[in-house]
Amino acid sequence: MIVTKSYEDSCQRAAELIEAAVLANPQAKLGLATGGTPLPIYRRLIEDCKAGKISFAKVRTVNLDEYCGLNGSNTQSYRWFMDHNLFNEIDIDKTNTYVPSGLGDLAANCREVDKKVRENGVPELQLLGIGNNGHIGFNEAADLLHTETHIEQLTESTIAANARFFDKSEDVPTQAITMGLSSILAAKSIVLVATGAAKAAAIRGLLCNDEVTTQNPSTFLKLHPNATIIIDAALATAAGYEN
Ligand code: F6R
Repeated sequence: MIVTKSYEDSCQRAAELIEAAVLANPQAKLGLATGGTPLPIYRRLIEDCKAGKISFAKVRTVNLDEYCGLNGSNTQSYRWFMDHNLFNEIDIDKTNTYVPSGLGDLAANCREVDKKVRENGVPELQLLGIGNNGHIGFNEAADLLHTETHIEQLTESTIAANARFFDKSEDVPTQAITMGLSSILAAKSIVLVATGAAKAAAIRGLLCNDEVTTQNPSTFLKLHPNATIIIDAALATAAGYEN
C-alpha cells in the first residue's frame, strides 16, 4: 500500500516497479491495462526506454481486455491504444505483445487469453486500474464473478465512464472480453493505481476493511500475496483511508 503526494508520483512509483521487474528479468511477462490511469505510466516507460535506461526488447506482454466488435485498426480498440500509447514508442518486439481479440470466435479467444497468461510462466507483474464500481479488468460488480476469461456485459456506469473516449455515446461498446479473476490473480505481483474522487467508494472497500465481495471485484486483491495499491493523498482522504 503506497500513498503518494500526487497522481504524478503514483505513476512514477508504478513505472519504477515495472522497470524493476524488467531489470530483474529482461524476458519478463507483463500484464498490462488500458484506460486513462496508466497513460502517464506508459509515458515514463517510453521516456526511460528512449533515454536508454531500460529495454523491453525481450519483454512479453498480455493485456487484460478488449472491446467486442472492434478490430485492432479501430482507434478505439485497446490494441490500437497499446500500440500508440506504448508499443510503437519502445523497443519491444510487437510479436511478443498480446491483446485479446473481441472479434470472431469469442469462446476460442477466451481460451487463448487464459493460455497466453499461463504459457511459459505467469506474468511477473500485472498492472491494474479500477472502475468506479470496483471492477478490475472488466469484471463488473455483480452477484457472481468469473475465474476465467469471458465476455462481460458492461454496466451502464462503465459505459458512461468509457464514453469520454468516444465522439458519440452510441458508439461505446457494451461488451468486452476480459480476463477473469483467477487469470488476473495468477500474476506474481499486482500493481493497482487509482486516482480521482469517483474511485473513493471502490478504494474504501478495497483498503478499509477485510471483506471480500463480488459487489466490489477489486476486493479479491486482498487474497493476493503481493498486491501493491498506489493511491494519491487526495484519494486516500476521499476514501477515508488512514495511513
Ligand atoms: C482497462 C481496464 C479497466 C480500467 C478501469 C479504469 O484495461 O481493465 O479496468 O482500468 O475501467 O479506467 P480508467 O483508468 O480510465 O479510469
